[in-house]
Amino acid sequence: MSESGSLDRRTLLKLGAAGAGAALWPGAAAGSTSPLREPRRPAPPAPAPERPIAADPIDTVRIGFVGIGGMGSVHVRNLLEIEGVEIRALCDVRPAHAERARDWALEAGAPEPALYTRGETDFVRMCEEEALDLVYNATPWRWHVPICVAAMENGKHTATEVPAAYTTDDCWALVETAERHGRHCVMMENCNYDRPEMLVFHMVRRGVFGEILHAEGGYLHDLRAIKFSDVGEGLWRREHSKTRNGNLYPTHGLGPVANCMDINRGDRFESIVSMSGPSRGLQEYARDHFPEGHPFRDETYVLGDVNVSLIRTARGRTIYVAHDTNLPRPYSRIHLVQGTRGLFQGYPNRVYVEGRSPAHRWEDAEAYYGEFEHPLWLDMAGAGADRGHGGMDFLEDHRLIKCLREGLPTDMNVYDAAALSAVCELSEISVAGGSRPVEFPDFTRGRWETWPKLEIVRA
Ligand SMILES: NC(=O)c1ccc[n+]([C@@H]2O[C@H](COP(=O)([O-])OP(=O)(O)OC[C@H]3O[C@@H](n4cnc5c(N)ncnc54)[C@H](O)[C@@H]3O)[C@@H](O)[C@H]2O)c1
Repeated sequence: MSESGSLDRRTLLKLGAAGAGAALWPGAAAGSTSPLREPRRPAPPAPAPERPIAADPIDTVRIGFVGIGGMGSVHVRNLLEIEGVEIRALCDVRPAHAERARDWALEAGAPEPALYTRGETDFVRMCEEEALDLVYNATPWRWHVPICVAAMENGKHTATEVPAAYTTDDCWALVETAERHGRHCVMMENCNYDRPEMLVFHMVRRGVFGEILHAEGGYLHDLRAIKFSDVGEGLWRREHSKTRNGNLYPTHGLGPVANCMDINRGDRFESIVSMSGPSRGLQEYARDHFPEGHPFRDETYVLGDVNVSLIRTARGRTIYVAHDTNLPRPYSRIHLVQGTRGLFQGYPNRVYVEGRSPAHRWEDAEAYYGEFEHPLWLDMAGAGADRGHGGMDFLEDHRLIKCLREGLPTDMNVYDAAALSAVCELSEISVAGGSRPVEFPDFTRGRWETWPKLEIVRA
């Protein structure tokens, strides 16, 4: 890594040649974490740009896709249906995954993509050899940053699954590389596009809840069976629970409420306190599901089953964010947005607006779609609804391609990727320090005060 914390070209080449990503890139060791030091606050070489990046319009977006497992398959199939896209290359360490996606492309009548299946760092070769506009990845977490950096250093825009990074240094690496090369680095937070989240964002913009003062979000999802599976995420996600204790997956809950609070566009995350409870769920699951002598029963975990954090923003507002993936429970992202005139609360979706709702009583949020459905959902109702989380994944892919084709700033940008992803390591630092407050870096270097608010986008 260079002084600035980003991966320079020479290092990337070495990484490609040696196949030793884990040695060269701290985040690339499975389940590795930073040594929990105070986050780096470099003196950046230049101020952040006056306006978020908007690159030249691209008529046909030529894509190289890396990691076509569970989530990558959803994106690739979406992209094959979106106008103005050509999937030029597919890269996966499992050749069968790349070949399956190649067959989807051929079935869709698209040209045959080149396959890159020569191991964990073959994405470097793809970035160097292929004429691509966008390198999109849905790989395990440890590969997100090396792939994004390789893409941008080879002149490509990049999009990554969540979280974009899990150390603060890596967040800076994404920001600095995007600025240096003038490329987009988009974190694909699909929950920003879900129907209730877009309804709430639209209601916030229309002033229904007054001034927004508080929000809550989280990822509360019983992943025990997935973490112990012998395919997909079972092969890598549980590893993180062995060495990391904090909020490992903050962006689904935080992304939508950050938009409602204009994070990086009028406010910013300033500090976080975090605490984790005991770690029991995975140990008990292993005992209950695997026979005596099975290696899973000997594994030990440090990840508290329930992690809760509080974020204070620069404007003094508060956000509660939770991570809870090791215990039996129904799914929830909490999704609460509260202002001076009322609030929305999810799971189940309810609204209370002073002067409109019966006093002190919730209303079913369904009653609000007629008046406040987000225009993007009006434009695209039903698109991709049969796959990919009820349609939100298709909407996010559609918006990404539209922004690239029209030369617009993307809905989510590298500063959003950094601020939301920074919660991973900052929560770990706070937990390790007895829940002490930890400051967020200002990835925007003051630009959050002037960057324009996210618009109510259309299809
Ligand atoms: N947004 C969402 O709703 C959502 C849902 C699920 C997963 N995800 C995210 O998507 C990403 C992938 O998760 P998943 O569930 O698809 O996992 P997965 O294990 O099913 O798929 C990962 C794929 O990446 C491949 N891979 C691994 N290392 C690689 C490398 N170095 N180069 C090329 N290919 C490589 C694997 O072979 C596999 O095909 C993760 O970041 C996860 O957090 C997001």
